[in-house]
Amino acid sequence: MQEIVEKLYNTGNLSDSELESLLETDDECALNLLTVYADETRQKYYGKKVFLRGLIEISSYCRNDCLYCGIRRSNANAERYRLSREEIMSCCENGYELGFHTFVMQGGEDSYFTDDFMCSLISEIKQKYPDCAVTLSLGERSCESYRRMKEAGADRYLLRHETASEELYRKLHPKEMSLENRKKCLFNLRKLGYQVGSGFMVGVPFQTTENIIEDLRFLQELKPHMIGIGPFVPHHDTPFSDEKGGTLGLTLKILGILRLMFPKVLIPATTALGTISPVGRELGLKNGCNVVMPNLSPVDVRKKYDLYDNKICTGEEAAECRICLQKRIESAGYEIVSERGDAL
Ligand code: SAM
Ligand code: FES
Repeated sequence: MQEIVEKLYNTGNLSDSELESLLETDDECALNLLTVYADETRQKYYGKKVFLRGLIEISSYCRNDCLYCGIRRSNANAERYRLSREEIMSCCENGYELGFHTFVMQGGEDSYFTDDFMCSLISEIKQKYPDCAVTLSLGERSCESYRRMKEAGADRYLLRHETASEELYRKLHPKEMSLENRKKCLFNLRKLGYQVGSGFMVGVPFQTTENIIEDLRFLQELKPHMIGIGPFVPHHDTPFSDEKGGTLGLTLKILGILRLMFPKVLIPATTALGTISPVGRELGLKNGCNVVMPNLSPVDVRKKYDLYDNKICTGEEAAECRICLQKRIESAGYEIVSERGDAL
């Protein structure tokens, strides 16, 4: 098994059968070696730097009905909110004072946030904070919408492909959604000049090793600037409430594989990883992650952006999260930096 890790480190790629063996092994020596090489590779390109992104969760309204997600439209128990323009601007102001140079506006697919609304908001943020990057994560929109928001100043877009398998995609989503459209959105975003982030959940119901290999192959084709993966965590008010969540071990292993396959990519240590283990994000950093996304949303709405159960950081003020993460990053031996943190 160690030869497979050596090969991945030396060549940045493996055959499907080698990936299958690595994804299924519990050989500790090989997995320790994967961690060592993932850290070495990340340090070769990024040193000990960890970039900060301030996450602003702008809406819990969503027209989609993904079976895994707590804010799916069929969840009548979900508490819905949307932030006003003034509230979003005040999150940015707070974030800027705390040293953030990237604002990520994420939300459910909410038609309230029209292109006109978003373009005017993005222009105002870029005018007030010209040294900051604006990242959007608003789901699937038309190519024209993506083009207008790019022209208004948006720099990056996060849209996980969720799964690259047609068969699995259909089991996780309602009929009206399609993998084809999701992929089309990602290629449109790339073409328009966004720095693109994609990714998937680990351990989602019905996922097989073969599906994970398909995800890695799709990422090789898309060549995103950022890759976000995190464990699936069940939500009590969804059809997957009784399913098992993704494991820490498999998520860390895939993070290590991603770092070796995509040496220069930006990889966040996600909130979901911090949710399934008290040291999940620290372990993520040691397995190749180089980004953290502390929450800048107003505390009174945090619990309502309820994607999965037991989500962390829902009671803390932005400043508390910033300090907490700084301590965590330093304890893992890395260094928080406040630069924009574009992909190399
Ligand atoms: N609406 C936008 C979109 O579709 O990209 C952004 C918001 S969406 C809620 C953000 C991400 O949350 C999804 O891409 C999905 O991977 C993740 N997510 C949703 N439900 C989850 C769950 N139960 N466990 C872990 N991650 C989840
Ligand atoms: Fe939010 Fe620790 S990162 S409280």
